[in-house]
Amino acid sequence: MTPALAKRLVIGAMVALSTLLILALYLPVFRPDPNNNTVNGSAAIGGAFTLVNQAGLEVNEQILLGHYSLVYFGFTYCPDICPMTLQIVADAIDILPEQKSELVQPVFISLDPKRDTSETMASYVSNFHERMIGLTGTAEQVQGAASAYRVFYRETPIGKGGGYTVDHSGYLYLMNRSGRYVDHFGKDVTTEELTSKLRELL
Ligand code: NI
Repeated sequence: MTPALAKRLVIGAMVALSTLLILALYLPVFRPDPNNNTVNGSAAIGGAFTLVNQAGLEVNEQILLGHYSLVYFGFTYCPDICPMTLQIVADAIDILPEQKSELVQPVFISLDPKRDTSETMASYVSNFHERMIGLTGTAEQVQGAASAYRVFYRETPIGKGGGYTVDHSGYLYLMNRSGRYVDHFGKDVTTEELTSKLRELL
């Protein structure tokens, strides 16, 4: 092989390689799917659960289908973060024009099934929004839902009377019409931030 031919082969191979690379980047098949429920390559958030709604009926993850959902885990005895976040969720939904606000379903899932019965959940969620779904269940059902959403929680005793609080992670999850993860918000989330994210999507 002459040096000139070798050089042409090398250049040819390089051109072919970079063409392939460019194609790979632009072909939809290689692009990350925005609806894929992975967060920056970390484990999936969301998925199957079985819980009991505020009417006492067993429901599963299919309640998320057909609309966007804002899913928050907490407990009705929570003194501050839970009620604050749920109020922000309700406000953000109500700020949207009616046809759009109807496309967003607020969901509150209890991490304290011992105290949060369906009846407790019914009266609690109605304080925030008339369309808010309040879910609870057996300890196992709640544990299952929490682990699907990577939610950490732990009962922590208060005083000596057997009272307790529930320490829990405070992420608010936005799920799409297929019930898949879209985004999450921390406990410093604002009504404006949520509303603008929803406007972007709807
Ligand atoms: Ni809380």
